[in-house]
Amino acid sequence: MTTEHLTEKKTVHIKSYGCQMNAYDATRMADVLAPHGYETVDSPDRADLVILNTCHIREKASEKVYSELGRLRVARDERRAEGRNDLTIAVAGCVAQAEGPEMLRRAPAIDMVLGPQTYHRLPEMLARRASGERVVDTDFPADTKFEHLPKARTRGPAAFLTVQEGCDKFCSFCVVPYTRGSEYSRPVADILAEARGLLAEGVVELSLLGQNVNAFHGEGPDGRSWSLGRLIAELAGLEGVRRLRYTTSHPLEVDDELIAAHRDIPALMPYLHLPVQSGSDRILAAMNRRHTADHFRRVVARLRDAQPALALSSDFIVGFPGETDADFAATMALVEETGFVEAYSFKYSPRPGTPAATSDAQVEETVKAERLAALQALLDRQRRAFNQASVGSVQPVLFDRAGRHDGQLVGRSPYLQPVHVRADGIAIGDIAPVAIVAAHANSLEGRLAEAREAA
Ligand code: 5AD
Ligand code: SF4
Repeated sequence: MTTEHLTEKKTVHIKSYGCQMNAYDATRMADVLAPHGYETVDSPDRADLVILNTCHIREKASEKVYSELGRLRVARDERRAEGRNDLTIAVAGCVAQAEGPEMLRRAPAIDMVLGPQTYHRLPEMLARRASGERVVDTDFPADTKFEHLPKARTRGPAAFLTVQEGCDKFCSFCVVPYTRGSEYSRPVADILAEARGLLAEGVVELSLLGQNVNAFHGEGPDGRSWSLGRLIAELAGLEGVRRLRYTTSHPLEVDDELIAAHRDIPALMPYLHLPVQSGSDRILAAMNRRHTADHFRRVVARLRDAQPALALSSDFIVGFPGETDADFAATMALVEETGFVEAYSFKYSPRPGTPAATSDAQVEETVKAERLAALQALLDRQRRAFNQASVGSVQPVLFDRAGRHDGQLVGRSPYLQPVHVRADGIAIGDIAPVAIVAAHANSLEGRLAEAREAA
């Protein structure tokens, strides 16, 4: 990386919507821009460059970007009128990928459109923009961005690490195969290098990311294709690794090696996000999920057998085209019987270009709303019960940020529950046993227990 651009200091604000992959991409965009003099700032107010890192997964998520663009355009007009610093407006992420040229037409304020696979070229795009061009770069380049991205900088003791991207599953409701492209697994050597870099800077928890992370099949150092289970085992052996996680998984590809990892690797946290979407076989088939509700039950049973402490999180869609009351009842029954400690549930949102969007069996909005409310009430009860049940237990907590009150730190339990602690003599990055004393809807409160252990 050259330093010739370092002459001028600039600021960038990246606003990220949607999934953790987008959050990872946002940090990597900041890494790309830093050697070119861009400092990351928390607010768009004075930023020279604002990047909206968009999400296309549901209509609501997509629409947010246009209201934000409206606000940014007003802010830029004010700055220009007052002779202040100009503002470059860029749109990145999956809406950009899916609708780049239309976006330029619909929102004249946009200067640059870039996709999830091209952000390593941001410096070139900015140079083109500086010469007056409106830039669109939403290719799927043959050489992946990973070959060009600079070393990942750390931002705390827990870090994301993308190991796999894209999806070939084509669930009939989902835009991901179109916006993120086909499945790609990074070579194991690259992942290990990024992991070692992060660990050397004090990271102790790695969350392996992929749209379909358990479809991982990256090339190993032995020239063979490695499964996610094997990769996790290798990462667990690196100096400094205390916690490993992975997300998001598909129930089809929970293989023996992955189950063995849950049994044998203490660093692998006993928490798994495993989207099931529906409990009805008819709807699962229409969704092209390629598995039944019973398959999901069996996978869960095997995982729990391997790791009895395992807690599950999931995604659900209600009101998928053709969903009847009986189908929805099957979803409720599956939730009731499985027990989830966290969940993300949505009304089906028809997405342009996906097969389910053109079905003529769309479910009425009011029915979707009723079903969503019923499902969320049940999931909410399960989450609260789980949080409540942890009161009285001692949990290892990884402290990752300061709390709102003086002397308070916030960390994460193995189950990703935020835990607030008055933490004398303990620092961000430490893992310490915490006695849980109270449970709230979305967080826990605890006291440091004896036998404190530094990370
Ligand atoms: N409508 C509603 N929810 C959707 N999801 C994906 N596509 C849609 C859609 N068209 C949900 C799924 C997925 C999660 C990331 O978003 O539950 O697992
Ligand atoms: Fe979308 Fe299905 Fe692929 Fe998940 S598995 S990203 S829901 S197509």
